[in-house]
Amino acid sequence: MADINIRMAGPALEKLGYLDVEIDPTLDLFKEIERLKKEKNAVVLAHYYQEADIQDVADYIGDSLGLAQQAEKTNADIIVFAGVHFMAETAKILNPNKKVLLPDLKAGCSLSDSAPPPLFKKFREKYPDHVVISYINCSAGIKALSDVICTSSNARAVVESFPVDQKIIFAPDKNLGAYINKKTGRKMVLWNGACMVHEIFSLEKINKLKVRYPYAKLIAHPECEDAVLRVADFIGSTTQLLNFSHKDGAKEYIVATETGIMHQMQKNSPEKTFIPAPPDNSCACNDCPHMKLNTLEKLYLCMEYEQPELLMDEDLRKAALKPIQRMMEISARAGL
Ligand code: 13P
Ligand code: SF4
Repeated sequence: MADINIRMAGPALEKLGYLDVEIDPTLDLFKEIERLKKEKNAVVLAHYYQEADIQDVADYIGDSLGLAQQAEKTNADIIVFAGVHFMAETAKILNPNKKVLLPDLKAGCSLSDSAPPPLFKKFREKYPDHVVISYINCSAGIKALSDVICTSSNARAVVESFPVDQKIIFAPDKNLGAYINKKTGRKMVLWNGACMVHEIFSLEKINKLKVRYPYAKLIAHPECEDAVLRVADFIGSTTQLLNFSHKDGAKEYIVATETGIMHQMQKNSPEKTFIPAPPDNSCACNDCPHMKLNTLEKLYLCMEYEQPELLMDEDLRKAALKPIQRMMEISARAGL
């Protein structure tokens, strides 16, 4: 058992966003995490962009919609969210009486940060006859200013649940919004936000990869820019990309989303080759620096000491709950 000085851990937690405690290097963290799950009736929910070890120890791995659905139906007393802040917030909004832990409280999201609630409130006031559809990758403050939430799995169904003449603001991801506009023929007003991971894929390098692997299919997340989406063979949320790569007949795939998903792709289809789409910098693949703040060590510590815990103002939670519930209903009706 790690020797912890809680008096030291408090300030370190505030400054670093996680418990800064030395762990006995002989400890089997996989076993310890399994023990803690049972002892505390805790469930570990992990996004596909988490490191492979975290995915392997999780009770459920999924995309944003799947994770929210799991969070809504869990009987666990503690939800350990291996993902980023807005995802843990969503779990808390759905479960006010459960303890929600995030291994590193500083695991944020550039897309969520691109929409500060006070600015968005002013923006919304310019369009009084518009409804607001917000992508789940936003803060509770933005959710509270929205009529309905969507994820990349159900964005089209959520948009199409409104009459064609309904004026709509879509926030915060302009790339997903533009993609849905194209698919549905709507003319939604878009907030100018983007994901730092998906917007830096290099079309030039992708085209070079396509020449090197002429039989590879390009599969892309709709948070990517239009130039990349135009040359993609398949576009979908992380779960949809995973399912497609498993069922499809090709042998090679160029994957234009965060590299964490490739762990599951490779597990599901060991005979296939998955090539990360390169970003427009000196790296060969594209990791989300926020998602990757979580580590197996931090996951273990947060379960052992039940810190850092995600807390939320009750009025904000109630206001953010309504548009999430509306999304859940539309999703259920669409069989998603
Ligand atoms: P999905 O997992 O819903 O496809 O979203 C991708 C993403 O960027 C999560 O941060
Ligand atoms: Fe946010 Fe993009 Fe990271 Fe997802 S991949 S958490 S949208 S920065």
